[in-house]
Amino acid sequence: MKKNNFIIVAVDGGAAAGKSSTSRALSERFHLMHVDTGSFYRATTLKLMEAGVSSEDTTAVTQALSTIKLGTSISGNTASITVNDWMPDASIRSQSVNENVSHFAALPELRAFLLDYQRSQVEVAKKNGFSGLIMEGRDIGSVIFPNADLRLFLFADPEKRAQRRAKEGITDSIQKRDQMDSSRKAAPLQCPEGATLLDSSEMTLEEVVEKVSGWIESLLTK
Ligand code: CDP
Ligand code: CDP
Repeated sequence: MKKNNFIIVAVDGGAAAGKSSTSRALSERFHLMHVDTGSFYRATTLKLMEAGVSSEDTTAVTQALSTIKLGTSISGNTASITVNDWMPDASIRSQSVNENVSHFAALPELRAFLLDYQRSQVEVAKKNGFSGLIMEGRDIGSVIFPNADLRLFLFADPEKRAQRRAKEGITDSIQKRDQMDSSRKAAPLQCPEGATLLDSSEMTLEEVVEKVSGWIESLLTK
C-alpha cells in the first residue's frame, strides 16, 4: 500500500544515542530529507542567550521569539533551519549551549514556537522531490508526528553515550540533559507507546543502520 508513497520516519532518543548519524545514513539510502530538530532548539537557545534573555523570564522569551523569523536551507539531503537568515554553525554545539539548551527546551513557549515549523518540513520535503522525511529529536514520535510510518526510539547505555561524545572531543553533560529532558512537563523525552525501541548499546553504527533499513524496506513494500 505504501509503495512509492511519501514516508515519515521519526527518530527519538537521549543525547549521543546515535540519532544524527543514523538519520543521516538512512536519509542517503532512502532519499529522505533529514531534519535535526535538536539544532532548532540549539539555534534558538543561542539567539536567546545572545539577546541576554533568561529561560526563567518567559515574558522576555516570548518577546524575543516574536522577533525571530525561521527559514529552511537545503544542502544535499539535509534541511537546516535559518534564524533571521542566520545559518547555524558549530557555535550551537558549544559548552554553554549544551548547558543551557534543556532549560529553554523545557519552556512550552519555545516548543509552541517551533511546532508548526517542524511539521511544515513535510511540505518542504515534498516540494523538493524527496521520497520522505526523517526527523530526529526528543518528541518527534510522541508530539510532532505521532502517526509517522516508523517511530524509532534509539536507546544506548548512558556510559556508552558519554564515551561516544567524549570520543568526539565535546564537553557535554549528557546525563544531566537527559534527566532534564525526561522530567519536564512539556513533551518529555520518552519512548512513546507503539514506537520501536532499539537498544544500540552494543551495536556499531553500521549495524543500527542495517537493522532500521530493513524496517524501512518492509514499510516501503507493504
Ligand atoms: O545531539 P544531542 O542528542 O546531544 O542533542 P540535540 O538533539 O542536539 O538536542 C539538544 C537539546 O534540545 C536536547 O537536550 C533537548 O533539550 C532539546 N530538544 C528537545 O527538547 N526536543 C527535540 N525534539 C530536540 C531537542
Ligand atoms: O544525534 P545523537 O546525539 O543522538 O548522536 P550522534 O551524534 O549521531 O552520535 C554520537 C556519536 O556516537 C557519533 O560519533 C557516532 O559516530 C557514535 N555512534 C557510535 O559509536 N555507535 C552507534 N551505534 C551510533 C553512534
